[in-house]
Amino acid sequence: MQYAKTFTDALQFMWGEGFLSPGGAGEVAQMLSDDDLAGKSVLDIGSGLGGVDVLLVETHGAAQVVGIDVEEQLVAAARGLIAEKGLGERIRLELVEPGALPFDDVSFDVVFSKDAMVHIPDKQALYSEVLRVLKPGGRFIAADWLWAAGAEQSPVVNAWLSKGPLSFAFTTPAEAAETMRRAGFRDVKITDQRAALQVSNREEVNALEGPMFGPLSSVVGEQMAMSRLVSARGRQGALDSGDLIPAHLFGTAPQRDQRE
Ligand SMILES: C[S@@+](CC[C@H](N)C(=O)[O-])C[C@H]1O[C@@H](n2cnc3c(N)ncnc32)[C@H](O)[C@@H]1O
Repeated sequence: MQYAKTFTDALQFMWGEGFLSPGGAGEVAQMLSDDDLAGKSVLDIGSGLGGVDVLLVETHGAAQVVGIDVEEQLVAAARGLIAEKGLGERIRLELVEPGALPFDDVSFDVVFSKDAMVHIPDKQALYSEVLRVLKPGGRFIAADWLWAAGAEQSPVVNAWLSKGPLSFAFTTPAEAAETMRRAGFRDVKITDQRAALQVSNREEVNALEGPMFGPLSSVVGEQMAMSRLVSARGRQGALDSGDLIPAHLFGTAPQRDQRE
């Protein structure tokens, strides 16, 4: 288990109820600025505590969302949030094993994912699976954490990664684009979100060094609050050095007659 309760309580304190990644509603809206989810069926890979799924339905009009995650306690908590919001008819959450997606071919109009694919090492298999479950012309829309070429040697990155509980499998933007194309995606586009994250993460560091530290400590304890501060500082170092590249990834599944 990578996402223990005290850890997820701290992340929600910083990023909002139901969110295990920064950016919230604003970033989800930005990811969807070229796409209309109204009436569509959406698979959300790495649904965490379900905050993103609520937005996909309530704010963006998705007809049905299936959220999948590999951590049982997260799926259970997310189901609680969805029930509380009365969205059980439109959002279904499933506990899955890492690996092949447990869905038939051509099942979804959109595959969405926010800050989860960085945990999945085999990107070629992942993108191929995403393509398999998408309908022809369907869209893949994801936020993912990438890194610059050579970042694995960066002392700043290694200092940051040594401080947190999570394991990551990064690729560069060029590798991600090439792997998506090789899987069969069309219209592959990757946009660099580093500048925006540098600003919001700096605000987070300032808040954790100042007014947020006491209230966060009273919710999750001083040790966890300190570990969040250390992690946010480490992330800032990796953003400022240019090694960490938060990105948005987009691709389109070929029409039936274009599939190879
Ligand atoms: C940083 S959290 C993001 C959660 C959510 N998307 C959000 O933005 O709040 C990453 C999530 O990916 C999940 N995850 C990790 N590996 C996965 C896999 N192979 N398949 C599905 N989910 C996975 C984790 O359990 C975690 O809930």
